Amino acid sequence: MVKVLVAGGAGYIGSHVVKALLKNGYEVSVYDNLSTGREINLFSQAKFIKGDILDFEKLSDAMKGQDAVVHLAAKKAVGESMENPALYAQNNMIGSLNILNAMLKNNVRHIVFSSSAAVYGMPEYLPIDEKHPLKPINFYGYTKLDIERYMEWYAKLKDFHYMALRYFNAVGYDAEGSIRGREIGSQNLLPIIMDAATGRREKLCVFGTDYDTRDGTCVRDYIHVTDLAKAHVLAIEHLLKGGVSDSLNLGTGQGTTVKEIIAATEKVIGKKLKVEYVGRRSGDPAVLTASSAKAKEMLGWVPKYTNIEEIIRTTWALEQ
Ligand code: UD1
Repeated sequence: MVKVLVAGGAGYIGSHVVKALLKNGYEVSVYDNLSTGREINLFSQAKFIKGDILDFEKLSDAMKGQDAVVHLAAKKAVGESMENPALYAQNNMIGSLNILNAMLKNNVRHIVFSSSAAVYGMPEYLPIDEKHPLKPINFYGYTKLDIERYMEWYAKLKDFHYMALRYFNAVGYDAEGSIRGREIGSQNLLPIIMDAATGRREKLCVFGTDYDTRDGTCVRDYIHVTDLAKAHVLAIEHLLKGGVSDSLNLGTGQGTTVKEIIAATEKVIGKKLKVEYVGRRSGDPAVLTASSAKAKEMLGWVPKYTNIEEIIRTTWALEQ
């Protein structure tokens, strides 16, 4: 059985990756400090090691005998990364370097890395493909780009193989209901909408209504987490059979506005949300959509969830 260590496997995307790996017959170990990941999202079929990626000895120990690593252990709040860059340098950069170095030390040669559309910065053209200039405009995005570059160098210098997956906006939950622990404290749009829908939050603020888009609100490429998880499995298969190292976008290519997300949510939950329209949030591009042609070509990856209401329904199900 192929052994995979999933760093951050108790987290939102990580738990979905663990499910997909188990479903595909991998032997999975989860390495997570449970800082944002949740115990309720651990699978009994996977071994659990409670550890921090900043603890090199423990990490190196967990790495022994693994065939591949999926690394999703990171901090991901864009605003926080601008206010506290040292925290992001420590967790995302030093922590990731620990993973890469623990791999080299233990002869683990394959890694799938959780990267982000934030590596691109302000779009110069749309949809964004992998040839787009890499000019992150927030420190979070910079940490992801930095690790991609380390991996590129390690792949040149050593018997080391990687796939960096640049997620666009991850949304939704496992439709079979295996993952019950919703993400806590997320500053992303859909979790905030869910908080407004359930009364955990008084209202939802829409950041900007004067963008040059079809209804004035920002357009994003929302990609279901189960589709993202599937890409990790395909990326591991690709690397294990000797495929080349690269960076790939993961998105649907479809853009949805904030107002459209709100309307779709209201339809799914059957009631109106309390919405306040406020000014723009700094650093928000008007439109972000992905070309995932390369992921399709290299991995045969095609997203299945393309209906936004269906995606929202899988999130709303956790609130029932
Ligand atoms: C950002 C990052 C993305 C990262 C993600 C993780 C960039 C360009 N994108 O995505 O790479 O993976 O965070 O956290 O850095 N919105 C509101 N009200 C709210 C919250 C959001 O109107 O209360 C709007 C935003 O203006 C945006 C959309 O909803 O247009 C999505 O926002 P969000 O979920 O925060 O994700 P991004 O900023 O697109």
